[in-house]
Amino acid sequence: MKLGPDAAAALDAALAALRKGDVVGLPTETVYGLAGDASDPAAVARIFALKGRPADHPLIVHVAGIEALDDWARDVPPLARRLAEAFWPGPLTLILRKQAHVLDAVTGGQDTVGLRCPRHPLALNVLKRFGGGLAAPSANRFGRISPTTAAHVREEFGDAVPVVLDGGECEVGIESTIVDLSGTTPRILRPGRLGKAELEAITGPIVEGAAKESPRVSGALASHYAPHTRTELLTREELGERARLLRARGETVLALTVGRAVDGVDGRVLADDPDAYGHDLYAALRELDARRADRLLVEAPPRTRAWFAVLDRLGRAAADTPEDAP
Ligand code: TXA
Ligand code: MG
Repeated sequence: MKLGPDAAAALDAALAALRKGDVVGLPTETVYGLAGDASDPAAVARIFALKGRPADHPLIVHVAGIEALDDWARDVPPLARRLAEAFWPGPLTLILRKQAHVLDAVTGGQDTVGLRCPRHPLALNVLKRFGGGLAAPSANRFGRISPTTAAHVREEFGDAVPVVLDGGECEVGIESTIVDLSGTTPRILRPGRLGKAELEAITGPIVEGAAKESPRVSGALASHYAPHTRTELLTREELGERARLLRARGETVLALTVGRAVDGVDGRVLADDPDAYGHDLYAALRELDARRADRLLVEAPPRTRAWFAVLDRLGRAAADTPEDAP
């Protein structure tokens, strides 16, 4: 990777901060992370404090490559290596049995650890030079919308996180696919851009959703990634009706729609393509949220496999849909 002098200086500053136990905003191809030394209890504690995240929610450890698997995980199954070979660096997090040294604060006290090698060139550069693992949850306050630009991270944390590496807009825009390989069958704990079919080409049949005894995934809370604005997920037909009804009650309404606007309802239109939609989703939610309407009406994309990860995020954004919604 060729770096201009500004980028090189920013990278040096990020590394220096990480080495002295500070946390930094780090771009990845999925969303921006709030990164700190995964082996430093003080850095990890700082991440939790900044996010306002409950202590039992584990963090993903970001690593520089496949070689690091055995540094963090034990009894690594061949399937984990095959998945890492196929998809790392990339938007895939593997849940594996942890090495003894992995901090309880990182794993939420569980016997497993989440590992991911991101493919954003700045993240990879930092990881390679840092040498160790970087614990990095999405760089948003707990329960809020994940950031996909450096400006979003600054909005979330301001001066509390002085170093935010600017890697531009995240390419994927939604969080990594999480695959749990710590049990007897592989399971997708969180859907992402990397879909079931692509994974199954490597793993064979894979189960979706957490088992009862599965480790906790904070992204699995019903209400997550939530805007402040009361948000409803509706069909296109319902949306127009609902907007009229709410307005008649004196409420202001914005819409997030697929491919084209709904006549007479202001808001944002995202592409009728799951990848392009995912890329823009969180930025659009932030932008609409900042307009402080009384309601945000979101048109549900088609309920097809290709839209699965996007639908998952939208379902959580709208988890507080009021009872009188259609
Ligand atoms: O794309 C991503 O994964 C982004 C970027 C920054 O890499 N990170 C991210 O981190 O989304 P976070 O903390 O917002 O979400 C990580 C998810 C959480 O839902 C957490 O519960 C789950 O990973 N997780 C981490 N370690 C786990 C473990 N040992 N067992 C089960 N789930 C785990
Ligand atoms: Mg998150």
